Order: sequence, then C-alpha cells, then structure tokens
Amino acid sequence: MTTGPVGHASAPGKVILLGEHAVVYGEPSLSLALERRIHVDAEVAERASTVNGHALDPARHGYIHHAIQLCALATPVRLQTRSNLPSASGIGSSAALSVATVAALLQLAGRAADPATVARLAFETEYQTQGAASPNDTTISTAGGAVLLSPRPLPLGEALWRLERDGHQWNAHRLHLPLLPLVLGNSGQRARTGDQVAKVRRSVERSGFARDAIREIGTLTLDAVQALQARDLVTLGRLMDRNHTLLHTLGVDTPQLARLVEAARQVPGTYGAKLTGAGGGGSIVALTEDPERVRQVLESHGAQSFVVTASPRGLEVTP
Ligand code: MEV
Repeated sequence: MTTGPVGHASAPGKVILLGEHAVVYGEPSLSLALERRIHVDAEVAERASTVNGHALDPARHGYIHHAIQLCALATPVRLQTRSNLPSASGIGSSAALSVATVAALLQLAGRAADPATVARLAFETEYQTQGAASPNDTTISTAGGAVLLSPRPLPLGEALWRLERDGHQWNAHRLHLPLLPLVLGNSGQRARTGDQVAKVRRSVERSGFARDAIREIGTLTLDAVQALQARDLVTLGRLMDRNHTLLHTLGVDTPQLARLVEAARQVPGTYGAKLTGAGGGGSIVALTEDPERVRQVLESHGAQSFVVTASPRGLEVTP
C-alpha cells in the first residue's frame, strides 16, 4: 500500500494535419489531439527507479530516463504506464509519454505541473532523447484540442506559450476548428522519429530542393488554416496532398505509406491524404466524406485503421 506522495497524469496522442518535419526548422504546423492517451502513475521507490516493474534502463526507457533527469527528482521512483496508443506509429506516443511522465513526476515532487512548465520540460525530454525535435508533439499533447505552432505570434485563436531552441521560436496557438472527418491508417511499419528527423536534416544540409520543400510546407500550413476558417475542405485536402508530395521529396515516404495514401484518395468523397508524423513507416491521415469506407479500404490494404475522434482533452493531472 502506498502511503507517501504520488503523481498521476495522462496525456493524449496526436495527428499532425500539416507541417511535420518543417516545424523542426521553425515553420508552422497544425495538429489535433486524439482521444487515445497514455497514463503514468508515479510514487517514491525505496532503492532504484523502476518502470512497470522492471529496472529503469536508460537505453530502453529513454524518454522516462530524461524526464527524471530534467525534473531533478531527489529520490528513485516507481512508474507504471498504461496506454492505448501504438508506439513508433506517427501518432505521438513518445510525446504523450514525455508529457504524462513529466507531469506525474512534478506532482510527486510537490511542484507545479502547469501546462506551460510541462510543455517546456516535455519538449526538452523529447529533444534530448531523440537528439532533435520541435515542440509540436509535446505541445499538442499538453494542450489538447487543435494547436498551430508558428515562428511569430499570430492573431489567431488563443495564445498559449512560446518555446525557443537552436535559434528557432515556436508560438503555440489554440485554434477552435470545425469537426473534421479524418481517418488514420497505421501501416504497422515502425519507425523511430529521431532517425527520420536526422535523415531530413542531412537532405536539408545538402539540397536546395529540400530547403525549398521545408519552406513550402510552412506556407501551405498557413494556407490550410485559412481554408479551415472558410470551411473549405476541398482546398484543405489539396494542401494535404501537396504536403505529402513534399514529404516524399524529403525522403520520409515509404512504398507502403504511398499505397495507403493512394488507396484512401481513390475512395469517392476523399479530399486529400498524406503521411502523418515522422514517416519512414507509421501512419497516414485522410480527410474524407466517407470515413467508414476509407477505414475499410485501408484495412483491406493491411493497415490498422480508425476514424479519428479529435479530443479537447490535453494533459490531465489527477489529484
Ligand atoms: C513527429 O511526430 C513530428 C516531426 O516534425 C518531429 C518533431 O516535430 O519533433 C517529424
């Protein structure tokens, strides 16, 4: 039985509508929180730290290891995690784990687990674990709902917080978007975000094409926000298609993802489809008038697919 202090927090996964990879270079991105989430319970441990009953292994539990270091806990901790988010699938499980772990640890230590503090520490957790990251995934997981990141503050929605690193600045805005008919298809190919971010970095350092692609993704993300405000799903879908082409140029598309994107586009009523997240495997997202049909088609192509229920819920810390 636990008698000492405890921390309990949960945080959602995400789907990136537009802007992945470009956001690492400070370009805008637009994401939604999913209903699926990760729960983390923390309590003080007597000797060494454990995760789900196993000794904490920095190589295997990288995000948790860095979160513990960054929160500067004075004691070892016992952590239990529960999740209905598949990992390494492009829908933000590592960000959700980072956010929920940081919040649970701060609560355990009797410190404030306010969203801006958690978002900053969880971003640092992801950055240090992966070797590079933008605050996109940890911000949407903390805030919930729909979030636009941009290099400058914009007169859009509600200003949340600003994060800075490596000469880039990301201003987070909460947007109030119409409900979007979206379907996710998980290819089942697992890919590590850090590897894909490093791959894109090599292209960006070498090629003007890659740098142009990054800039165009930023521009089309802001165009998509305008399309959303006008409820113009045809334009939004076209911008998603173009975003996919640019991600292909950056080298993070795979034959399997390309097949899923194409299959979704063939369904009458589909406005657009693209890979979502880091790519190299993971998932695609389609915007469509016929989510159930797209879901079936993606499943028939071997994907695990679900109709997206976007969620206003972000980080939740339970007393
Ligand atoms: C991964 O979900 C999103 C990327 O843009 C990486 C990042 O923003 O940290 C690929």
